[in-house]
Amino acid sequence: MDGENISRRDWFRIAGLGSVSLVLSACVPKQFFKGEENLIEPESLISPDLEISLRAVPDQIQIFPEKKTSVWRYQGEVLTGPDDTLLDIPGSYLGPIIQANQGERIRVHFLNDLPEPSIIHWHGLHVPPAADGHPRLVIDPGDTYIYDFKVKDRAGTYWYHPHPHGRTGPQVYGGLAGLFLIHSKEETELGLPEGEFDIPLVIQDRDFNEENQLVYGTGHMMDRMVGFLGSQIMINGMPDYELPVSRRPYRLRLLNGSNSRIYKLAWEDGTPLTVLGTDGGLLEAPIQKEYVTLAPAQRIEIWADFSQDQPGSIKNLISLPFDGYGGQADFLVTRIKVGMEAGDSAPLRDQLVRLTPHNIEDAVNRNSPRSFLLNLAPGMVWTINGRTFEMEEVAQDEVVQLNDLEIWEFENRVGMGMGMMGGMSVPHPIHLHGLQFQILERKIPASNRDGWNTLSEGFVDEGWHDTVLVYPGEKVKILVKFDDFTGLYLFHCHNLEHEDMGMMRNYRVDPA
Ligand code: C2O
Ligand code: CU
Ligand code: CU
Repeated sequence: MDGENISRRDWFRIAGLGSVSLVLSACVPKQFFKGEENLIEPESLISPDLEISLRAVPDQIQIFPEKKTSVWRYQGEVLTGPDDTLLDIPGSYLGPIIQANQGERIRVHFLNDLPEPSIIHWHGLHVPPAADGHPRLVIDPGDTYIYDFKVKDRAGTYWYHPHPHGRTGPQVYGGLAGLFLIHSKEETELGLPEGEFDIPLVIQDRDFNEENQLVYGTGHMMDRMVGFLGSQIMINGMPDYELPVSRRPYRLRLLNGSNSRIYKLAWEDGTPLTVLGTDGGLLEAPIQKEYVTLAPAQRIEIWADFSQDQPGSIKNLISLPFDGYGGQADFLVTRIKVGMEAGDSAPLRDQLVRLTPHNIEDAVNRNSPRSFLLNLAPGMVWTINGRTFEMEEVAQDEVVQLNDLEIWEFENRVGMGMGMMGGMSVPHPIHLHGLQFQILERKIPASNRDGWNTLSEGFVDEGWHDTVLVYPGEKVKILVKFDDFTGLYLFHCHNLEHEDMGMMRNYRVDPA
């Protein structure tokens, strides 16, 4: 920030000027494995249905021709359970896809073979605090952490990633992330496309240097304020990805695994997207959207029917322009190539599942929601109610009671007279750990409505969510219930650069 007049346009990281690049290095000495284990909960005494190990380790991957790319990644092994408990994505830095059935008990041995502390968080899962991957639980290089939990969540698309405070952005960026798919009998009976016709697409953006090495260009203050935006779109860890499909319906599971980039996803030919599910599993009924706004950490499942497409034709999934960082132009997300083979599947149903939503009438604070202000504080820090993250601290307004149903309201306030920074407006994808919530209401002031209108039709607010995008100026109300577990959890902005800066707080569930 050199005193010059910085307009909003200049904030776009088109050039990334002045960025100090950090090249992740894989040259670390082999760590001695100490085999230390953390205290585990009594639940773990029951033998698990699934037992796996995940090792975080520096590695080299062939992403581009010639020079390999240094990455950090999870390597998995099934210790107990069916072979398909873990599915490797060939040629990808992403961790194995973990597959579990609702109701199963899982034990995960996490081995940290990185040159720095880390811990795994199961994003979207309703697990006890000891299994949630809070940054206070980080383990040192060479150590092991054992997770024991029951898979309680609905069938759906969840994921896992590191959560060490201040280092989540670079660790995820380096390649540490993977999908966690939950299946259930109820869902299988719907006859949705499965197996090779059920395809996960993890969308991320990266920058590489001429040596094919990852560049995490967030050294510049401006870059951190906005978050990292890369110029290379990666699908399942691969650039220029092309998905071959048969002429039949598919179930596509999309995860925005990017640090900060928001996608406004659409079919290039203008066909609407048919949305089946969100963060917390299937919707009651499929819905049609011209485009879908997918913020960091969010998932969306779509029904994509290629049976009417010409053999050999190409269908592009693109991201449309919108008013906000990274939204200045449209770009290709993935190419889909329609093959010769045709196939059949059960037709799409009008009704998918029955949801049992919370009843707003039961909210303990129906008349005065718990409110959280998302604001830029002096010193250029993003804050939640004026605070940044402190490892163990919980403020009075961050304590809730077990079994309570509450309304939480997040307000992304802009333009509060902070001099040059007053006009700084960035959307914040707000995420709560340990549960799924409902989105109740959005309010946008007239002053921000035009920008908001460029994304708002793409919000899928139906169903269950663990992350919600709060646009500049917007107030979003959610309905959230604190079931089953007491203890310390997190809520934070899932723009990982914001999170690392401290736009994260604890909330504590106290016994009723
Ligand atoms: Cu993906 Cu703390 O979250
Ligand atoms: Cu999470
Ligand atoms: Cu944010």
